[in-house]
Amino acid sequence: MTATVRLCSTDEVKPGSARRFDVDGLRIALVRIGDDWYAIGDRCSHEDYSLAEGDVWEEEREIECPKHGSTFDLCTGEPQTLPATKPVPVYEVQVDGDDVNVVLP
Ligand code: FES
Repeated sequence: MTATVRLCSTDEVKPGSARRFDVDGLRIALVRIGDDWYAIGDRCSHEDYSLAEGDVWEEEREIECPKHGSTFDLCTGEPQTLPATKPVPVYEVQVDGDDVNVVLP
């Protein structure tokens, strides 16, 4: 069963940036590119570092791990560069008015 959880309002995350949320024991990096929103697992699959602290690559729709530089596709969670080799989870984001919600599995 899925659950929809409100993370924040749209003005709390600036375009081109990311913010970490802890929800239901999950660490989620919420990423905004323009008016597009993405939610991926915040924990890098290489080591335990927060992806939300990394740079957002707007053109490529990727986020870069701040520790060793692996980038992750925001749509699939797949790493695009080494050293990470495993994907991170991705979650559906629903924007309802000013509310940004994530759908949890
Ligand atoms: S901790 Fe993310 S690439 Fe190493």
